[in-house]
Order: sequence, then structure tokens, then C-alpha cells
Amino acid sequence: MSICMFRSTPDCFADGVCVFKCLVNRDTEYCHVGKQSVLITLGYNSVLLQFKSQAEYNTFSNALKRCRRQKKNSVFSQRTDEASAAQYFQFYGCLSQQQNMMQDFVRTATYHRAILQNYIDFTDKVVLDVGCGSGILSFFAVQAGARKVYAVEASSMAKYAELLVKSNNLSDKITVLSGKVEEISLPESVDVVISEPMGYMLFNERMLESYLHSKKWLKSNGMMFPTYSDIHLAPFSDEQLYMEHYSRANFWYQECFYGVDLSSLRNAAVDEYFRQPIVDTFDVRILMAQTVKYTVNFVEAVEEDLHRVEIPFVFQMMQSGLIHGLAFWFDVAFVGSLVTVWLSTAPTEPLTHWYQVRCLLQTPLFAKEGETLSGKVLLVANKRQSYDIQIVAMVLNWDMQITVRGGTLYQHIQPIPLLLTAS
Ligand SMILES: C[S@@+](CC[C@H](N)C(=O)[O-])C[C@H]1O[C@@H](n2cnc3c(N)ncnc32)[C@H](O)[C@@H]1O
Repeated sequence: MSICMFRSTPDCFADGVCVFKCLVNRDTEYCHVGKQSVLITLGYNSVLLQFKSQAEYNTFSNALKRCRRQKKNSVFSQRTDEASAAQYFQFYGCLSQQQNMMQDFVRTATYHRAILQNYIDFTDKVVLDVGCGSGILSFFAVQAGARKVYAVEASSMAKYAELLVKSNNLSDKITVLSGKVEEISLPESVDVVISEPMGYMLFNERMLESYLHSKKWLKSNGMMFPTYSDIHLAPFSDEQLYMEHYSRANFWYQECFYGVDLSSLRNAAVDEYFRQPIVDTFDVRILMAQTVKYTVNFVEAVEEDLHRVEIPFVFQMMQSGLIHGLAFWFDVAFVGSLVTVWLSTAPTEPLTHWYQVRCLLQTPLFAKEGETLSGKVLLVANKRQSYDIQIVAMVLNWDMQITVRGGTLYQHIQPIPLLLTAS
């Protein structure tokens, strides 16, 4: 909710000049003073709002109460632990993190191209930028001819975005709204939603749900930029990576570490090391089969579709050997009226800050060329803005008789830690 105070003229009418403006959210501290005043604390400053009439005062306090109540029950707060959200938005409140994304040339240049080459979809249009960060995508939308951009940002980066908007003389075009997209309110519906909501393995951070949520502001024939995403998976063989993980866990194998026997924790250590997905890149020659693709269409999908994502797979093995795990990456498509532009994080393409993600198996599985590896990946959303992963698979031989080598290939509940950083 935003508060604007206008200068009063001697005859007590406001003359339209705003002398004070601030944004109020769930965390804003305020208290009632007497019967017609409210004291609001904003950072180090406090402002006493005195209302001319009881009616005005009541309207204002009711709006404040509504604002608080609504936020406590928002879709975002219901699906997210408070501590997780606090850490998440603190991370994105840092200029260095925004810079890291902005300096990902593949990412930023592809967004720029996708928006500007489809200028026809932006010219004179109203745009919503979900999670605007520094506001960079909002600026691109204006460059493409947007009439108005609502730039929504939940972290403290919103104030820097506002500063950039002002210093670029675009306050008439871009309005920065501080808050979560699930909790803010727009004065009008929009023609296009733009956002960069992809996390590691596409789904991490659960920001895609916020992106889908924002469609409540989209006109019925409006556009989503990006429009859809393909997640790719493939089995890989990487003996060295596998051994590295085991050697790390073997620290706990010691029976005399400063006189202490650690070995009872060795199995727990192996579990922990192998539960952790690996965010890095690799040579495509480690891949043992053509990828399987799973598509999320942002125009059609709803938030609930992402609470539990089941990806069935059948791989035709192109080489014999040990399967050490599954590798994941994604592409997103911007389907504009003029061109479709792709942003790819594939291992065959220039590296991005999303790298690729690999899930290791504790027990590798042997498969021969021509055999089939089939099963499913189950992703279940958790309240830490991440997913628990379960992978179940088996090898089928040439006669299509099921020979389950080692039983279930791999079955585990595996959280992708929030905001993994890869070196
Ligand atoms: C991956 S960054 C992208 C920033 C910017 N759009 C860019 O492309 O450089 C995602 C941003 O969305 C914000 N964000 C995440 N979830 C949000 C939500 N539910 N409402 C508003 N902002 C959100 C984060 O704070 C972060 O700044």
C-alpha cells in the first residue's frame, strides 16, 4: 500500500503537490495515537499522520489492517517458511547478486533480444515485470515501446530499482511496487508479463509459481515472456565425480580420529553427500542416451501444477557402462508475434550462471548399449522454496523383459538446497 501526502494550501485544500510518499507493507511498524492519528516508522524516521476527520482516519486504519491480514494469508506466505523467505530476499537485496545475474551475458542479452525483436508486442502496451530486481527487464520493455511498466520486487532491491528509474528519467513509464507479486495490487490489468523466474534445474526457488500467480493481472489474450520451458534429463557416467563423493564421506570411516571412532556416522555421511545435487558443468560425452524432455507451458499452467511434478522417462542407452546418475538442464522460449527466441542452459551451449545439475546415485547401475532405462523423477515442492527429488528407474533388456539390476536404481528424498552456489 502506498501513502501520498499532499501540500495543503491556506484554505485547506491540497494543491496536488506530493510532499511525502512511502510504501507500507506487512512489516511496517505503526501505532495509533489518540483517536485520529497514526504514527508510522520508516527506517530511522517516524511520521505522524493526523487525519482531519474520524471517517478519513477509519478508512485509513481499515486499509492498513486489510493490508496486514491479506499478506499473512497470501499464497506466498502459506507455501513458504518465514526464515526461508527472509534469507531468500536478503540474498536478492544485494547489488552484487543482481550484478551476477546482469553480467550473465547469455541470459541478459537473450532477454534483451527477445523483448526488442518482438517490439510489436510491447509498443504502447502495459507490462508487469515480476521480481524486477534492478529493474533491468522493465527498462528493456520501455526500450521496446511499452507505455507503462509495473515493476514488482519483494526484496530491498526495490528501492534501488526506484532510484535507477528516477535517474534514467523514466518515472512516468515505470512504477516500482515494493512487495511480493502475490500481495501487491495493480491499478489495471496488463498486456504482457515479463520475468526471469528460473532457478537451478528450472524449478529451484519456486519463483515459477509467483510468475504463474501473476497471470491474475494478465488480460485474457495477454502474453507471457518467457512463454514455456523444456527441462531435459539424461543418464551420465562419471567415475571420478562418484569417487570424489565417496572419498569425502570416507572421512567418517576413521576409527581413531584423535582417539575417537567416527565410523558409526559413515553411512549417514554417504547419504548426505549423495543427496546433494551437483551444480556444475561437464563434457557432453559423459551422457549415455538422448535426452528426455518435459515441458512447462507458462500460458496454460497454474501454480498447483508445480507442487508435484512427475517426469516419466525412457532412455535408449547409446553406450554400455555404469550409470552414475541423471543430468538436468533447461531451455526457455519467448514466443513473440515476430520471432521465437530461445535461452538455453544446455551443456552444448555457452555456460550460464545456471550451469547444469546432476543427481548422483549411491549405487551405480550397469546398462548395455541398446537396453532401456526407464522410470520417473518426482519433484515435490517444500516450504524452503525448493523441491524434494525422488528418482526411480530400472533397466529393461533387449527382449523387453524387466531385469531390475540392483532393484530400484535410486530412490531418495533429496532437497535442492536453496541458492546453491557453484564454484
Ligand atoms: C532471478 S532475479 C531476476 C531479477 C531481474 N528481473 C533480472 O532479470 O535481472 C528474481 C527477482 O525476483 C524477486 N522475487 C522473487 N520472488 C518474488 C515475489 N514473489 N514477488 C516479488 N519479487 C520476487 C527476487 O527478490 C529477485 O530480485
